[in-house]
Amino acid sequence: MDESLDWGKQMTHAFLTPIRWVDDRVELLDQRRLPFEEVWLTITDVRTMADAIRSMAIRGAPAIGIATAMGVALAFRDPKRVPADLSQRDRYFEEIATVLRETRPTAVNLRWALDRMSQLYRRYRSESPEALYRIFRDEALKIHEEDIAMNRAMGEYGAAEFSRPVRLLTICNTGALATGGYGTALGVIRSLRAQNKLLAVYACETRPYLQGARLTMWELEHDEIPGVLICDNMAGFLMQRGEVDAVITGADRIVANGDTANKIGTYTLAVLARQHGIPFYVAAPVSTIDLSLEDGSAIPIEERSPDEVRAVFGHPIAPPNCSVWNPAFDVTPGELITAIITNVGVIRPPYRETLAAAIRNPVVESPGV
Ligand code: MRU
Repeated sequence: MDESLDWGKQMTHAFLTPIRWVDDRVELLDQRRLPFEEVWLTITDVRTMADAIRSMAIRGAPAIGIATAMGVALAFRDPKRVPADLSQRDRYFEEIATVLRETRPTAVNLRWALDRMSQLYRRYRSESPEALYRIFRDEALKIHEEDIAMNRAMGEYGAAEFSRPVRLLTICNTGALATGGYGTALGVIRSLRAQNKLLAVYACETRPYLQGARLTMWELEHDEIPGVLICDNMAGFLMQRGEVDAVITGADRIVANGDTANKIGTYTLAVLARQHGIPFYVAAPVSTIDLSLEDGSAIPIEERSPDEVRAVFGHPIAPPNCSVWNPAFDVTPGELITAIITNVGVIRPPYRETLAAAIRNPVVESPGV
């Protein structure tokens, strides 16, 4: 079922959400078609959900986590598909987890959501398929709600970082579309706007998938936030001209020493920010923190199809068979990051100590610093 976007219908949380559970199915706002067409996809099985994640109909680390949890629930929607024999059922669950796990490797929120669903499975595996379905669906909805709450908290903590109105530079899309709703870095931007502390947002277009041009500009326009679109290679000159007070980005995985994987081009912005003496912030919920990795060298970096670089949404811009390198993410060293804005507070260097402490004892400081 396709239906056009009615922003008002998405107001259950007073703002847009890109994913919603309706009766016994999931609906996704197809981000491949934005901003030109606003189309909702209906997903009723786990394999279609995995395809939607892989093909980026839904994308952004927290949104991928929510979609993964809902995908697990969908695998239990039809009781006839769920084996009665428990060892076969274990294999069925493991197959589902593998299909989802292999869709996009960098965003740790996917694994985080799968771990949460696996724990539930271990506890309730002998329940009836109908009961398991309800348990998984309720957990997926809880993960969605929690993500929105985490974004709201991040917005407050992040906005408190700035005492004067600021001009921010960002990359990719970190807004409602990339999360359960509201956004991470773009959530902080929304909160700054609400507090009259935002002068302008510069959005990098974010080649090759153009999340900045297509999605961030769409969200900014909708919320009447003053946004300026730039090509990725204009960021340095903009900083040199003194037009940027701070850079703020999202994250796909933050590891123990603060090294942070995020959309390709983020590292370049961090180096440029250091060169120009501009603070560089990362905003992410605790579900994006992966203390199991010591440093960023171990983060798996997704490489995507060469066609995304040879062509822009189907329009060729290079010789058809030219060689291409297309990593979807890069890793910014922790030492280039001024602070990490999370839902449990603003975390500052030395990250090896402060990140671990924030996870152990999740109140680092209150908003209003
Ligand atoms: O490839 P994408 O569009 O899924 O990449 C998204 C990003 O890199 C975001 O910055 C990141 O997921 C944090 S968004 C809340």
